[in-house]
Amino acid sequence: MRIPESKIEEIRITANAVDIISEYVQLRKRGKNYVGLCPFHNEKTPSFTVSDEKQIFHCFGCHTGGNVFKFLMEYKKISFVEAVQEIAEQLGIPLEYQESAGYEEQQTEQETLYDINTESAKYFLNNLLNDEEADGARKYLQARNIKPQTIRAFGLGYTLRGWENFINFAKGKKIDLDRAVKLGLIGKSDDGRYYDKLSGRLIFPIFSPNGRVVAFAGRILDPEEKGAKYINSPESLIYSKSKILYGLSFAKDEIRRLNKAILVEGYMDLISLYQSGVKNVVAVSGTALTYDQVQLLSRYTKDVVLLFDSDTAGINASMRSIEVLLKQDMEVKIVSLPEGEDPDSYVNKFGKDKFDDLMKIAENFIEYQTRYYDSLGKLSDPASAAEAIRDLVKSLVLIRDELKRNLLIKNIAKKFNLREKLLEAELNKIISKESIRRPNVVRSSEKEKAEKEGLQRIIDEGKLDPLLYNLEKELIKLLFDGQKPIIKFISKNIDAEEFNIEVHPKLVGIVYEELNSSESLSASKLIAEIKDEELESYVREITFEPHSISTNWEERNPGMTPEMILQKYTKDIVLKFKLFKIDRQIKDNHNRIESADKEEDVLQLMVSNKELEEEKKALKENFEEIEID
Ligand code: UTP
Ligand code: MN
Repeated sequence: MRIPESKIEEIRITANAVDIISEYVQLRKRGKNYVGLCPFHNEKTPSFTVSDEKQIFHCFGCHTGGNVFKFLMEYKKISFVEAVQEIAEQLGIPLEYQESAGYEEQQTEQETLYDINTESAKYFLNNLLNDEEADGARKYLQARNIKPQTIRAFGLGYTLRGWENFINFAKGKKIDLDRAVKLGLIGKSDDGRYYDKLSGRLIFPIFSPNGRVVAFAGRILDPEEKGAKYINSPESLIYSKSKILYGLSFAKDEIRRLNKAILVEGYMDLISLYQSGVKNVVAVSGTALTYDQVQLLSRYTKDVVLLFDSDTAGINASMRSIEVLLKQDMEVKIVSLPEGEDPDSYVNKFGKDKFDDLMKIAENFIEYQTRYYDSLGKLSDPASAAEAIRDLVKSLVLIRDELKRNLLIKNIAKKFNLREKLLEAELNKIISKESIRRPNVVRSSEKEKAEKEGLQRIIDEGKLDPLLYNLEKELIKLLFDGQKPIIKFISKNIDAEEFNIEVHPKLVGIVYEELNSSESLSASKLIAEIKDEELESYVREITFEPHSISTNWEERNPGMTPEMILQKYTKDIVLKFKLFKIDRQIKDNHNRIESADKEEDVLQLMVSNKELEEEKKALKENFEEIEID
């Protein structure tokens, strides 16, 4: 089932981005646009911008943006279809559906999988609360001080022992068994027989950030029993392990409120802390912290406290996590627990106040790593100390903020009684080595910056004229304004391939394509056609810049409507662009004349230049006359 394109278009045209977004974000008018604090990352000054004219939003801080549908998808973590449905409902536009294949079908497949998981979670919870067999599980949780309301809040459950309890339940609910296999709830043996995958286990449903059940973890209860301590759902259409943080759906509001997240290792750690009132916690649950998990978390805060077990595995996990966090510009602190404790045991033994005290003495990563090396005895002899210090400096390299880096250098210098210059030299040595592989780890916003810097370098080296870049940029802006006469005019005069900046021909191609295939054009529609996220962000960013029409244009042309002025401006830019290209050829010829050996070559180049001059003249005259319509 899908919603027809024309209907989506109708909704897109009717919906007002400013109205819809202001229900979620407080917006203030600034110039032509509206600004507010970005809901997708933490900020104190507004860089979230909505254009009423273009019906798109863009955050200049985190580069999230798009049309109203995209806003709701991101804000509510819902699918495109759901966003369309929601806006249609608000606007009172009745929806109609078509049969379809492909993308939308995948949407409904996802929905089916979510439904299976939700049904199953309810069934497991019911087992835990009511089934006689779950008596041991209930006692177990009680012994671990987990309260009934906590069981309900986290939707914990129990799977009955045996091979086909779940299968029978699933059959009764008309759940497709093969889908349940994909979700890891049922196993299928080589001879095609189905069996319960999780039996006799305590169940932790794993939720997506917006609270849908994407997977399960089943903990063994009987320590005598063989098998893995936890069985986790496999990756599926709705579950990607490296992109999920356990507990985020519960913790996100508190993380935003406190602007701080505590990162723990286990399910029980998170649940116990939450129950005791520490609610800004998420768990990595067994895996090494991933790039995507940090990315996800960074939407809510940049401030993270690591609270891992004090065993070797915990320390190693901390070290690795520190690296991932620093690379993504997060503020990292580490809390060390007393020997033999994990967050769950600590808070149950000592209570929330003691826990809060512990949080207050969180160390920065330099202090933490130093202490760690010290505990290994590495700081006592000069050779291994040098190595340890080098390792510390290596971590510093991951911090891109120079000011912060310098402060930490001072910190290390003081600690080891070393000269700062020495550490700086060491740092620079590593940076120059690292810089070769660094681009792989930069985020897309950083990549954009790097691209811009790259562009600057090309400009500096004289390969690209800044004037040309600005002209192309203005043309791209005009094209993505979505006004048909203007697009038509530009397309008649300039081919997509004539653009010089790497990404521009592709962008121009998208607009020209739409011009040919679509009845109506608009900024938000055109931007939605760019399927490459980075390119899209680039276009949004430049479309928010005002056109560089000089203010005295309006004074010089009294009585002209803004529309007429924009048309005049377009003509002006197109002409300048064409003239620029001819001028470049002329200049090129001049250079060749200077280095030419043969007289006949010189002559030919001079003739060519004369023709080009004439072409310029004709072009100027022509442009005086043509009208955009
Ligand atoms: P722990 O072994 O520390 O378990 O693993 P725990 O959460 O503290 O459990 P309790 O307190 O003994 O009940 C930490 C985390 O590592 C993952 C789980 O997410 C667990 O919470 N893990 C551990 C697995 O995924 N599989 C395993 O077999 C073990
Ligand atoms: Mn534990």
